[in-house]
Amino acid sequence: MITLNEPPRLIRPTTAVRTSYLTGEQADCLLRGTDTDWLGPASDDFDAFVAARDHDKERWQVMSTVFWYVSGEHYLGTLVVRHTLTPELSVEGGHIGYHVVAPWRRQGHASRMLGLGLEKARERGISRALLTCAPDNDASRRVIEKNGGVPDEQLGSELRFWIG
Ligand SMILES: CC(C)(COP(=O)(O)OP(=O)(O)OC[C@H]1O[C@@H](n2cnc3c(N)ncnc32)[C@H](O)[C@@H]1OP(=O)(O)O)[C@@H](O)C(=O)NCCC(=O)NCCS
Repeated sequence: MITLNEPPRLIRPTTAVRTSYLTGEQADCLLRGTDTDWLGPASDDFDAFVAARDHDKERWQVMSTVFWYVSGEHYLGTLVVRHTLTPELSVEGGHIGYHVVAPWRRQGHASRMLGLGLEKARERGISRALLTCAPDNDASRRVIEKNGGVPDEQLGSELRFWIG
């Protein structure tokens, strides 16, 4: 395994991790069989790609903040904090979404990243955060449980947990 010289930090998107972001996300898309078209424009103008993400923005009909989990030159994953819930997000999506790119999985990064993400959420006034995950997503369920997730009633297809 690659040794990380610095403990990963949860920071706003930065151009400093251009290569590892693009290769990590490309590896992830290929592994999952998802669309890679967005990587072309991102690699053509990474400054613009970052500039579109380094400030709070309305998505899912609520304000949201994007963070990248980064150690030195290495980009490990993304976490999004949604500042409020809508009826839809209360069923699926919750306050926080995240992924760790494939090369860095199964090394405890998502568990630690969510811990830091909960701090970021608290700084934005979210003292109690809703997390959801698909019933067959054992990894994400473990990440949520390890951060103190308490199960609540299932309202749609996703499991629901509260932290805080
Ligand atoms: C879910 C995800 C974020 C987990 O990232 P990760 O960095 O591998 O997670 P961790 O290393 O912190 O592992 C957390 C726990 O899940 C377990 N785990 C990790 N991958 C697993 C897998 N594929 N199957 C079963 N368990 C798994 C780990 O063993 C660990 O459990 P333990 O502490 O009891 O041993 C990552 O797999 C991912 O990005 N998946 C795609 C996107 C996604 O599902 N996001 C969440 C949406 S709700």
